[in-house]
Amino acid sequence: PTGCPMGRPAEDSVPAAAPELFTWEFATDPYPAYAWLREHSPVHRTTLPSGVEAWLVTRYADARQALADTRLSKNPAHHTGSAHAKGRTGIPGERKAELMTHLLNIDPPDHTRLRRLVAKAFTPRRVAAFAPRVQELTDRLIDTFVAEGEADLIHDFAFPLPIYAICELLGVPAEDQDDFRDWAGMMIRHGGGPRGGVARSVKKMRSYLAELIHRKRENPGDDLISDLIRTSDHGEHLTENEAAAMAFILLFAGFETTVNLIGNGTYALLRNPGERERLQRSLAAGETGLLATGLEELLRYDGPVELATWRYATEPVTLGGQEIAPGDPVLVVLAAADRDPERFRDPDTLDLARIDNQHVGYGHGIHYCLGAPLARLEGRTALATLLRRLPDLRLAVEPDDLRWRGGLIMRGLRTLPVRFTPR
Ligand code: HEM
Repeated sequence: PTGCPMGRPAEDSVPAAAPELFTWEFATDPYPAYAWLREHSPVHRTTLPSGVEAWLVTRYADARQALADTRLSKNPAHHTGSAHAKGRTGIPGERKAELMTHLLNIDPPDHTRLRRLVAKAFTPRRVAAFAPRVQELTDRLIDTFVAEGEADLIHDFAFPLPIYAICELLGVPAEDQDDFRDWAGMMIRHGGGPRGGVARSVKKMRSYLAELIHRKRENPGDDLISDLIRTSDHGEHLTENEAAAMAFILLFAGFETTVNLIGNGTYALLRNPGERERLQRSLAAGETGLLATGLEELLRYDGPVELATWRYATEPVTLGGQEIAPGDPVLVVLAAADRDPERFRDPDTLDLARIDNQHVGYGHGIHYCLGAPLARLEGRTALATLLRRLPDLRLAVEPDDLRWRGGLIMRGLRTLPVRFTPR
C-alpha cells in the first residue's frame, strides 16, 4: 500500500491523478485518495462497487452543509436509480418493509416524532447509570485472555463488548445474549448484501426482538425496551412494530461502530507510541481530561464510520459548486471531512489533547448519532482499562499484515493481534 496506513500521508503518497477507489489499497489506507478528492474533486461522481452512481462529498464545509441540508432526504424512495440499489444503509435486509421505519431512513415529520420518543427512553442519564456495568463487562472480557499473553483484540474484546452492552441495556436476558453475539458475528463478517446467513441472522434477530417486545409489554422491567414501549409524547406511543425497528437500529447502529471505535482507536494508539504514553501517564495520575479529548481525537483521526449513510437530493442542490440532480445519491465521507486541512490544523497528526475538534464522526444535524453518550462511555472504558491492565500492549504482527474490512460505510480491522505480559 502507498503511504503510511495510520500516520501522516507522505506528500508523495497523495496520488497525482484521480485515484482508484474501493481497491484493497484504498481499504487499507483511504486517506491519500481522500486528500486528492478534497483538493481536485471535492464533490465527486463515482460508481460504487454495487454499480450505483453516487456523489462523494469530502470537504468539511460541504460535509456539514450536506449533513444538515433538508433538501437531501434519507428516504430511499427518492433514489431514481433504486432498481439496482442494494443495501443502501449497509443494513442487511433493510428493504424489507418492516425495517424501513428506522431513524436513518426517514425524514421529518416522522423522524422528529420517532426520535423524540426514543430520546425520552434512551437518555444520557440511563447511559451514565450504566457505567459500572460497562466497566464490569470490560474487565470480564479482559479476564478471559489476560493470562495468555496474546489476544485478537477484535475477536476477544472489541466485538463482544458492544454486543453485550447493548443487549443488557435493551433488556435481552443473559441466557439469550450469546445468540445475539452469533447473529451479530454473522452480520459483521458477511455484512453488505441481504443474502444467505446474514439474511437468516437478521430474520432471527428481528423475530426475537418482536417476541421480546411482546413479553416486555406484558411484563415490563427496568430496561430500554420497556421504556421504549412505555414512553409517550403528547399522548403518542411507539407501535410494537416501531419499537422493534427501533431496538433493531439501536443494536445495528451501536454495534459495528463501537467495535471499530475500540479497534481503530487501539490501533492508532499502538501506532503513535508518544501519544499512547502520554495517555497512560495521564490515566495513571488519575486524570480523565486527556481520555475525553483523546477519544474524540481518535474518532476524528480514524473513526469507525467512513461514509455517512445515504442521502438523496429531492430537488436540484448545489454543493461545493457542483449541481446535484434530484434523485441522485449523496454520500458524505466523514473520514475525509475530518482530515480537511481547511478545518483542522495538522489533520494527519494524532493529537489526543486537540481541543478545537468539532469532528463529524458522529454526523451532524437532525440525524446526529443518538448513541454518542453510550459510544463515549464504552470507548473510554475500553481504552482506559486496556491501557491500565495491559500496560505493555503491543502489535503482534506488522501493520502491513493487517486486513481492513473494506465495507462502504464502516472502516474497521478484521483482526488486531496483540501481545502483552501475561498476568
Ligand atoms: C446515527 C456514528 C455509536 C445509534 C449516527 C450517525 C453517525 C453515527 C455518523 C449519522 C449517520 C447519518 O447522518 O447518515 C456513530 C459512531 C459510533 C456510534 C462513530 C461509535 C463510536 C452508536 C451507538 C448507538 C448509535 C452505541 C446506539 C446504541 C445511532 C442511531 C442513529 C445514529 C439510532 C440514527 C439517528 C437518527 O437518524 O436520528 N451514528 N454511532 N450509534 N446512531 Fe450512531
